[in-house]
Amino acid sequence: MCQNMTVQVEFKGEKTVQIAESQTLLEASLAAGIPHYHACGGKGECTTCRVLVLQGAEQLSEINSCERMVREVRKLPDNVRLACQTNVKGEGVQVHRLIKDDTDRYIFLNGAPEDGSEAIGKRRKMALFFIDIRNFTPFMEANLPFDVIHIMRRIITLFRNAIEHYGGKIIDTAGDGVYAVFGLDTNIKMATESAVFAGIKILEDVKIFNNTYMRAYFNHFFEVGIGVHVGQVIYGNVGIGLNNSLSVMGFPVNVAARLQAATKELNNSFVISEAAYGMLRNPPYSVRTAKINLKGVSNAFEVMLIGKPYEYAAAAAKVE
Ligand code: FES
Repeated sequence: MCQNMTVQVEFKGEKTVQIAESQTLLEASLAAGIPHYHACGGKGECTTCRVLVLQGAEQLSEINSCERMVREVRKLPDNVRLACQTNVKGEGVQVHRLIKDDTDRYIFLNGAPEDGSEAIGKRRKMALFFIDIRNFTPFMEANLPFDVIHIMRRIITLFRNAIEHYGGKIIDTAGDGVYAVFGLDTNIKMATESAVFAGIKILEDVKIFNNTYMRAYFNHFFEVGIGVHVGQVIYGNVGIGLNNSLSVMGFPVNVAARLQAATKELNNSFVISEAAYGMLRNPPYSVRTAKINLKGVSNAFEVMLIGKPYEYAAAAAKVE
């Protein structure tokens, strides 16, 4: 771009502005009347001027040392730039202001995630993992509240240790179940294998826990149901300062939850989708297959049964 020439930059949903080579994105947007947040006055310290780059990243100036420093601290993703530190070299740039009001500001700045993820949605292929304790209700009804909570904590800890051992991340715990994902920073094949290994480890660990603890002290044993599916999901941090939890959502998540629920009707402790099975380098040799129906999907969905039939067959059929 010649010294005095200007190019256009589109601020998505707001306006298209003229920008000179000497101007930063922030200066150009302010000059065009956009109420662009810039709490530190454009010194590259506050990150309130951050923009999501939707198009034309190659037309933006290199990241300078000031921006680099603050990017590392705030863990900004590659597609986010500081408008006050960024110039534009050519046409075709489209950006989206991320902080437009005080609520945005609160969400982005007070909700700085601890796990390196940003409060910006991203798409990624992941392995989705759901696990549920099959026969917890009768235990709960027959025991003291203290014991119920204590045993629940022991089992959830057992789940967590296996999931984290294989690089998974727990997204949610609800009642006597856990939802976890694998593949936040590995490829989908590795993620799927890890999810399956974690499931197998949990099945073994629950068996040991039953034999060494539950049967001896409570004359009871637990079984679990695990469902694993893979697919493209959206993830991002939706905590608003209260809870910086990561959310992972999308249709494949619903499918994985449905597979976990199907462990009851299929009388098998570990059900994975055909797609997940196809990702395994060394899949189990002899597996039963089955078809289940999914809400909103006309064709029956093929699944592989890689666990074991329930000892409490009657309990497995019962809706808890
Ligand atoms: S205005 Fe503060 S970092 Fe850009």
